[in-house]
Amino acid sequence: MIPSAPVVQMEHVRHVFTSVDGSRFVAVDDLTLEVREGEIVSIVGKTGCGKSTMFNLLLGLENPTAGSITVLGRDPYQDFDFFRAKFGVIFQTDRLLPWRTAFANAKVGLEILGYSEAEQGEIARHWLHKLELMGFEDAYPHELSGGMRQRVGIARAFCLSPDVFFADEAFGHLDQSTAQRLREVFLTLIGETKKTCLLITHNIHEALEIGSRLIVLGKPSRVLYDVQCPTRASRAELVEFEERILDIIERNEPHHEAAARARS
Ligand SMILES: Nc1ncnc2c1ncn2[C@@H]1O[C@H](COP(=O)(O)OP(=O)(O)OP(=O)(O)O)[C@@H](O)[C@H]1O
Ligand SMILES: [Mg+2]
Repeated sequence: MIPSAPVVQMEHVRHVFTSVDGSRFVAVDDLTLEVREGEIVSIVGKTGCGKSTMFNLLLGLENPTAGSITVLGRDPYQDFDFFRAKFGVIFQTDRLLPWRTAFANAKVGLEILGYSEAEQGEIARHWLHKLELMGFEDAYPHELSGGMRQRVGIARAFCLSPDVFFADEAFGHLDQSTAQRLREVFLTLIGETKKTCLLITHNIHEALEIGSRLIVLGKPSRVLYDVQCPTRASRAELVEFEERILDIIERNEPHHEAAARARS
C-alpha cells in the first residue's frame, strides 16, 4: 500500500502570547504531530489548552513563536495566499452573514474566488441539497434553526472543495439529537469526498464517532496520547477507552508516564 502524503506537519511548535503589560502566556508547548491525507483526526483536551490556537497556527492566522509548521507542504503563515479555498473551516457558531439568504451564504466563497454565476448556483445548490436544505435556499439565517444554520455553514465550506477541513466544536452548541444527525451527515460527506479532517471536540463520543484517530492534547498544547480509534470494540472496551482518555486529560501527562505510574 502506498503511504498517503503528509498534509499537516507540526514540529516542536511553541506559541507564546504576550499581553500589553508584557506578561507571557504559553498556549502551545513543543507540539509535534503529523496528519496524513484522508485521515480524520479528533482532537480533545482541557478547555484553554490551546486547541483553537493550534488551528489558528495551521490556518496561518498566527505565526508560531518557535518550531515549524507545514500544511500541504507549505508554511501557512508565510504562504497565506496559497491556501485560499484549500481550507474548509467550520466553527462552533455558524458565522453566517445575516443579510444573505442560505443560498447566498453558501456561495459567498465561490463569489470571492470569481466563479461564474451559473457555477456558483450549481455548486451551492448541490451542497445545500447534500446538507438536506433544499426548500430553504431563500431563508435568511434568522428564519432557520441553529442546526440548519450550521448546515449552511458546512455547505459553504464544502462548496469550495477544500483539501483540509478544520472543525472547531462544530456540533458543540446543538442539542444531542440534532448534533447526532449532523455528525452523521458530516461524516458521510467527509467519507464521500475522502477529505482530510481535523476536528476539535469536548465530546469524547463525538471524537470516536467521527475520528479514525484521536489526539489528546495537554495544557499547554502538546501531545499526551495519539491513538487509532477503536473499531468494532465492545461496549465495555469503549467505556474503558473513554475512561483512559479522561484520565490522561485530568492528569495532564503523556500516556506512557501515567501508565508507568499505575504499574509502580
Ligand atoms: N490572542 C490571545 N492573546 C492572549 N492569550 C490568548 C489569545 N488567544 C488565546 N489565548 C489564551 O491561550 C489559551 C488557549 O486558548 P485557546 O482558545 O486556544 O484554547 P482552547 O483549547 O481552544 O479552549 P476551549 O476548549 O475553551 O475552546 C487560553 O488560556 C487563552 O486565554
Ligand atoms: Mg477553542
